[in-house]
Amino acid sequence: MFPAEVYVNRRKRLRTQVQSGLILLLGNSQSPMNYRLNQYPFRQDSSLLYFFGLDLPDLAAVIDVDKGAECIFGDDPAADDVIWSGPQPPLSQTCQMAGVSQTLPLERLQTVLANAAQNGRNIRYLPQYRPENILKMARLLEVAPTVVNDGTCERLIRAVVAQRSVKAKEEIEQIEAALDVSYEMHTLAMKLSKPGTYEKEIAGAIEGLALSRGCRLAFPAIFSIHGETLHNPHHENLMKAGDIAVNDSGAESPLRYASDITRTIPVGGKFSQRQKEIYTIVLNAHETAIDAVKPGVEFRDIHRLASRMLLSGLKDLGLARGDPEQGVEAGAHTLFFQCGVGHMMGLDVHDMEALGEDYVGYTDAIRRNPAFGFKSLRLAKAVEPGFVVTVEPGIYFIPELIDRWKAGQKCSEYINYDMVEKYRDFGGVRIEDDILVTADGCRLLGAEIPKSIDQVEHMSSA
Ligand code: GLY
Ligand code: MN
Repeated sequence: MFPAEVYVNRRKRLRTQVQSGLILLLGNSQSPMNYRLNQYPFRQDSSLLYFFGLDLPDLAAVIDVDKGAECIFGDDPAADDVIWSGPQPPLSQTCQMAGVSQTLPLERLQTVLANAAQNGRNIRYLPQYRPENILKMARLLEVAPTVVNDGTCERLIRAVVAQRSVKAKEEIEQIEAALDVSYEMHTLAMKLSKPGTYEKEIAGAIEGLALSRGCRLAFPAIFSIHGETLHNPHHENLMKAGDIAVNDSGAESPLRYASDITRTIPVGGKFSQRQKEIYTIVLNAHETAIDAVKPGVEFRDIHRLASRMLLSGLKDLGLARGDPEQGVEAGAHTLFFQCGVGHMMGLDVHDMEALGEDYVGYTDAIRRNPAFGFKSLRLAKAVEPGFVVTVEPGIYFIPELIDRWKAGQKCSEYINYDMVEKYRDFGGVRIEDDILVTADGCRLLGAEIPKSIDQVEHMSSA
């Protein structure tokens, strides 16, 4: 955990922002895989972690804003917990590390909330994303599960998003600790990506590496020679010389901060000429986009800039035509780049997505564009110092998408389908780094992971 005052100060600020009522933060419980006691690794709710740092199941936090009081509801370890999971301190002792002096048994929570409601107090809570917490919240608030998320508190959501968006020094240190492990994961993957190796061997090796460093993955690793499938969850392919593999993976630091890095690896150590050309387009878009990030710049403009660079590079290769700027406005680039150029990152790899993407990445004036491609942009608003964002342009040749677009001659003013056909089995290229917005620009977080063609080929031949 961070020192107690970090959590105390975060909560003080939250109380000031929220102004009145009770704040209820539900922690997560263990999640069974196939029977109750065989469980997925425990992952605490990120907002409870942010304000209390308590990485234990079955907790709830109540902050009484009017009285300035705070209480953790939870239970002391039972004899069985000690027998099966080892000695654990009493809850009150753990809570002191978060600067909380009051604890109550979990069974008291319902009465406390019922009394508060009877007294006309406003009970403010965040959107619930776990089915068991929807049910818990429904029982606690005596409402139907189907309406739990209708009762969330916008003021609380906005206050939490505002606070969690700007990362403090100690959070950046955690992200960089996760990035140290990412460096090792990505360079290991480059070295291991030899012809005759299965994707699952690399996926297993990088996950094992994260575990061996006291971390785990921030999200299931994407490691695939079919990088054109944006979040390809499969690792079954045998890799051969000439393939390129997309490795989109990140570690989660001991305090649960994410990293999220993508590199594209030539299996066997050498990119072909065609692969180099596409890779260079993506790398130029990635670097130009990073160079453009500074406070006040809207991230949707970074997205458009990267999209233009991609389309313009593809034009140079003969796959696109016409004016790249107009092509992007027409959405022509989305045949090749179907997602957003990046997202916020912090305690969640897509930071605070559970609170509602539009609260995180949009404003009343900057609304989500529902068009294909643009709709997947998670962050559009102007960035501020302290934001941590990913920059991850890519080019993806998705055969089914090419067929659909070609059949309708979609955007044919900007797309040379005869040339695109020649790339239908190309796969995909993505390059992603994590950056911190600073007072006058941005800086790359973590040590630079091999990224130029020479660096990647060198590491992949090692
Ligand atoms: N790393 C996966 C993503 O950004 O969606
Ligand atoms: Mn990402």
